[in-house]
Amino acid sequence: MAYSALLPSCGSAMPSIHTLLPALALFAVSAQAANDPNSYAETDKVRVTQLALDLHVAFQSRQIVGKAELSLDWRDKAARELKLDTRDLSIATVEVVDAAGKATPAKFALGNADKILGAPLIVTFDEQAPKIRVSYATNPNASGLQWLSEAQTAGKAHPFLFSQSQAIHARSWVPLQDTPAVRFTYTADVHVPKPLRAVMSANNNPDVTVGSGEFHFEMDKPIPSYLLAIAVGDIAVKSTGPRTAVYAEPSMVEKAAKEFEDTEKMIATTEKLYGDYRWGRYDILVLPPSFPFGGMENPRMTFATPTVIVGDKSLTSLVAHELAHSWSGNLVTNSSWKDIWLNEGFTSYVENRIVEAVYGREQADMEDVISQFGLKQEMAELAPADQLLMLAPLTGRDPDEALTQVAYIKGAWFLSFLEQRYGRATFDAFLRSWFDQHAFQSVDSDTFVAYLQKNLVDKHPGKVKPEELDAWLKQPGLPSTAVAAKSARFDKIDAARTDWQAGKRDAASLAAAKWGTLETVHFLEGLPQTLDVKQLGELDAALHFSGTANGEIAQRWYPLTVRSGYTASRPAIEKFLIAIGRRKLIMPTWEALMATPDGLAFAEGVFVKARQGYHPITTGSVQAALDKAKTKTKAKP
Ligand code: BES
Ligand code: ZN
Repeated sequence: MAYSALLPSCGSAMPSIHTLLPALALFAVSAQAANDPNSYAETDKVRVTQLALDLHVAFQSRQIVGKAELSLDWRDKAARELKLDTRDLSIATVEVVDAAGKATPAKFALGNADKILGAPLIVTFDEQAPKIRVSYATNPNASGLQWLSEAQTAGKAHPFLFSQSQAIHARSWVPLQDTPAVRFTYTADVHVPKPLRAVMSANNNPDVTVGSGEFHFEMDKPIPSYLLAIAVGDIAVKSTGPRTAVYAEPSMVEKAAKEFEDTEKMIATTEKLYGDYRWGRYDILVLPPSFPFGGMENPRMTFATPTVIVGDKSLTSLVAHELAHSWSGNLVTNSSWKDIWLNEGFTSYVENRIVEAVYGREQADMEDVISQFGLKQEMAELAPADQLLMLAPLTGRDPDEALTQVAYIKGAWFLSFLEQRYGRATFDAFLRSWFDQHAFQSVDSDTFVAYLQKNLVDKHPGKVKPEELDAWLKQPGLPSTAVAAKSARFDKIDAARTDWQAGKRDAASLAAAKWGTLETVHFLEGLPQTLDVKQLGELDAALHFSGTANGEIAQRWYPLTVRSGYTASRPAIEKFLIAIGRRKLIMPTWEALMATPDGLAFAEGVFVKARQGYHPITTGSVQAALDKAKTKTKAKP
């Protein structure tokens, strides 16, 4: 393997030894943990262990201006250089701080910027020092921050800021070693406009009096950089349990508290399965609808999309998911993004176990069927190399764009397979010990596979064959040992759909059945790729799909209407694409529109309006889809 191919192209700042001596480089890789290809950090030389932030949040200029003080653990006696990750940061000064606390100006240089990785900040030392201090300012277009104007909030009176650091965006608001291989504790002093509240992935005190504009935070457990998070806005709090609360704009907080009232139950359930919750409080911050993800597992404060607040708790598996990360991901962390299935696959498995314990087997089964359907659909479009859990090639792609259901659902399915073979009792104990024994560590796939071999496979011989493991971990597609989830409730939906398609039932009788979100989603997913405009009109009239406030339903309905030429849904589509920024919900509709010249023209018109409210990550995804669609239409004669 040409290891040099994995290195970013970043001009003269990077060493060229890898290109000159590939064999030696390969040896170095296997002899010690390889550096993360998505970071400039040289973790074998030096690691950041503690971060002290002092940040001023300036809404006018859309900048965070401040200082980051980094404590260093030098691992190589000969090292005299520290490489940090940055993206679009303006660095004012870098100081070296000696053991006595004395600061002196340091020699530093900002290397050339790579499109995906940003620019390395290289600090050179005369002798190894315990700390450095960087004074800096963020760019108004920082990829990890979204600045919302007053008009873009529910309350319309105050601006809002939130971060999204995963996968490699922490570097756009803090200079640091932006790799999940490095863990650090942090403190932060945050200065914001007086009426606003600041929260972080740290010890938020729900009773703190807002109004001074000064907030102090501490995270005393070592976390990877992608879990660094901040939000500032007109944020109210409502308690939902002894160690849980929801934070949201005042007009949302009651509804959010009701929707998420089972959070304490979920925590207690997960503790029974996998041991103590180790982070103290578990709060949920409900963000404005432009949040590009469903949820983000920032420690002590999950960030969540408001699109799951639909009034009947039917989408609260999102909380189960983000909470599950408190074990799989935040406690035991993938050491680089190629092993993201260790975070997301394990979490999707645990999520389903939480849902089963709190809402019952039927609910868990329905969710499994929907997930597995989504995986198969997505996998059909993926190159074989992208269908692997392990050995996923490090292609130098943007990790944001490389994320698929393979890591989530094939990963979770693999763990379900192990559970089926070894039995729940044995498998639960195994998983719990995996978390316990790797708590607060960053690990790779090889470490997991070795642990699995020793603690499960070798201990209970005859249950799983080596080639069966290999098929799950290192082969594309789905192994023959994958047992498909089944749901009796969905069987009824399938029958209703068949009857409706055969003209034996009308749409009004479908509506009378009063399906929940998941049943409706399953109904839609089982329909053919296109329907008659007349049929769609009947469904729409009876079930009111166009204009639905339920994003999971919208995600399936609108693409079907677009593929079928049902243009009656277009006004509702436009509203949906402008109001919601959650990528998963809107990308299928964008992509369906872009598949025809007429749809593409409509999409371009909507994008002009929608992008003003979008997060940089969502803008990037829609823009990439547009570029792709345009080259396709151009290529056609
Ligand atoms: N950690 C992820 C979100 C993420 C992954 C952000 C990779 C950036 C890069 C989070 O836990 C997640 O998986 N969210 C899902 C929710 C879900 C599967 C219930 C989402 O956002 O859709
Ligand atoms: Zn996740």
